Amino acid sequence: MSNWSAFVSYFAKTRILQVNPNQPNDENIQIAAHIIRNGGLVAFPTETVYGLGANALDGDALDRIYQAKERPTSDPIIAHIAHIDQLHQLAIQIPLHVVTRLAERFWPGALTLVLHRAPHIPANIATGLNTIAVRMPAHPIAHALIAASGVPIAAPSANTFTRPSATTAQHVLEDLQDRVDVVLDGGETNIGLESTVIDLTNPDIPIILRPGGVLLDELRAILPNIQLAPRYLKADEATSSPGQMLKHYSPRAKIKLFAGPLYSMLLAMKETAQSHLNRGEKVGLLIANEDCHHLTDFGILYPLGKRDDLKTISHNLFAGMRYLDSQKVDVILTRDFGRSGLGAALWDRLLRAAEGRVIDVQ
Ligand code: TXA
Ligand code: MG
Repeated sequence: MSNWSAFVSYFAKTRILQVNPNQPNDENIQIAAHIIRNGGLVAFPTETVYGLGANALDGDALDRIYQAKERPTSDPIIAHIAHIDQLHQLAIQIPLHVVTRLAERFWPGALTLVLHRAPHIPANIATGLNTIAVRMPAHPIAHALIAASGVPIAAPSANTFTRPSATTAQHVLEDLQDRVDVVLDGGETNIGLESTVIDLTNPDIPIILRPGGVLLDELRAILPNIQLAPRYLKADEATSSPGQMLKHYSPRAKIKLFAGPLYSMLLAMKETAQSHLNRGEKVGLLIANEDCHHLTDFGILYPLGKRDDLKTISHNLFAGMRYLDSQKVDVILTRDFGRSGLGAALWDRLLRAAEGRVIDVQ
């Protein structure tokens, strides 16, 4: 069990500080920055999801992140920067020709770059790997906090391990009350899904490790050779090897993910919902707005957005999982939203939340 830090937890009396996302309040930012510099933990909004931040240059502070999240110490953490100079503090052998173009196009924003780690950066940020993941977030509160701290801020998503990522300060508190010194409450995050992570340690073959807010087609314009990590290449990869799936982004209820032609898929959802209801179970339905009239009376509905509005669906996804959990449903039935554009990231999060339980009706 040496891989797990779950037995030691980080305790702190949590303070919640309100911050205007358009005009970060200097006093509260200074309080939070002071905590970061002293090795404490601050949860803050980014444009993707809330992060659980600590000084990326302080190995003990990084340990506290793993403890607070009950995260296995085998899962590396992203360092967040406010200025491009900080990239050179964190990484070495940077392939400048591509990184400069990516940074110009996508930073600040939802793109994370995995590079070779500078030797003086604590190894536990990357669980001993000789790499480091770096992102420059666009959210004004994230930017203000990093700038005021004067150090890069390491931050995984601000949820306890395996829970859906937090997109509001309330979600952060559900998971991390009394395990984080300060929560900067800047309202809902915009994108709602985490950043796209790409591995540039071999710049000739850039690899997408996690699809996210920046889309594959946008990246191809700059990185024509970019490839998806092998686990994304086969649609049924996860179902064929569920044991290899990292349980992640999961609500407490079991999730079943439906795919296939629209009406067959909705019919299968209806039948499955009915069989759960017959067993006296409580059913949640995480679906598109247009699906609602097919599924009323089959469970608690959580419409995520219009079927083709993947931005809104992404924005609402984790809040929907958490809402249905709060309703104490036994099972959540949800559906595929296609694989193009943000659909790739949505499918990834749904597949992991479902731990590979895919019902493909074709
Ligand atoms: O949008 C985001 O990326 C959010 C916000 C807070 O920035 N952060 C986030 O962090 O989602 P986390 O820890 O939940 O996910 C980070 C992902 C993980 O899949 C991790 O394995 C990968 O990035 N990662 C981090 N460092 C890495 C490294 N050195 N090599 C490969 N993958 C890395
Ligand atoms: Mg996470």
